[in-house]
Amino acid sequence: MDSQNTDQKLAVITGGASGIGLSCSKRFAKEGYAVLIIDANKEAGEQELKSLKSDGYNADFAYCDITKHEQVAAIFQGLADQNKCAQVLVNCAGISPALNALHEYPVEEWHRAIDINLHGTFYACREFLGLAMKNNASDGSIINVASIMGVRASAAQASYAASKHAVVGLTKSIAQDYAHLNIRANAVGPGVIDTPMNTELMKDENVMQYMLGRIPLKRVASSDEVANLIYFLASSEASYITGSYHPVDGGYLAS
Ligand SMILES: NC(=O)c1ccc[n+]([C@@H]2O[C@H](COP(=O)([O-])OP(=O)(O)OC[C@H]3O[C@@H](n4cnc5c(N)ncnc54)[C@H](O)[C@@H]3O)[C@@H](O)[C@H]2O)c1
Repeated sequence: MDSQNTDQKLAVITGGASGIGLSCSKRFAKEGYAVLIIDANKEAGEQELKSLKSDGYNADFAYCDITKHEQVAAIFQGLADQNKCAQVLVNCAGISPALNALHEYPVEEWHRAIDINLHGTFYACREFLGLAMKNNASDGSIINVASIMGVRASAAQASYAASKHAVVGLTKSIAQDYAHLNIRANAVGPGVIDTPMNTELMKDENVMQYMLGRIPLKRVASSDEVANLIYFLASSEASYITGSYHPVDGGYLAS
């Protein structure tokens, strides 16, 4: 990453190489942030970095498996070593694990879901907050991408719902504990979003018909529509919003 000018804020975006995270990477870059993409998909990360740089943005990519605390810590230590502070953390790295009844749910798949969706989010929040403390930060914003499954449940999705409910709880706790530093933390709850995560699901007409039947706006959302909410929550326009869960679901939860 190019050295930041003193006014340029840094947004760290986990899962920033695809889908909602990629839309956030582009949006924050366009809004004048330096952007650090963290992702386990090296190829996509490098490709998106190249594209952001060729558009003239200040961006960087760090390969990282978010489930490895030492890798996450090393990235934030690298920022500290360069005397950098991050003002925004967006946690998008996540998976949609296998569906199955709980009594036969593969134990390894359960651990994978919790490791990526919850532990990874915890590691990134922990290191972001540690860096903020080192820098005596007086503001900051964390946006954790949960899901509508962060506040409700659906058939055969126990591991996903458990991980996303926990992300909402983690977010509320951070909001309590770091409000005195004006560090805000909010969770967003996307409904059905057109991203690579849903490529297969969206090919299934029966599933889509069922899903659309439950969405008052009768369509899925683009990842940019989720990034709009995330950018708003990071901005000073949302200066009094913390500890909240914000659905972006076309009315799904209200129906
Ligand atoms: N797409 C939806 O409909 C939807 C709905 C609700 C919530 N979400 C949540 O939004 C977030 C982003 O999902 P998306 O739809 O953009 O999916 P996506 O698959 O397009 O992007 C997810 C990104 O996370 C990265 N990632 C996965 N495991 C990782 C790991 N161990 N370490 C680092 N990076 C890792 C992937 O490489 C990918 O770039 C996820 O947390 C997902 O649960 C998505």
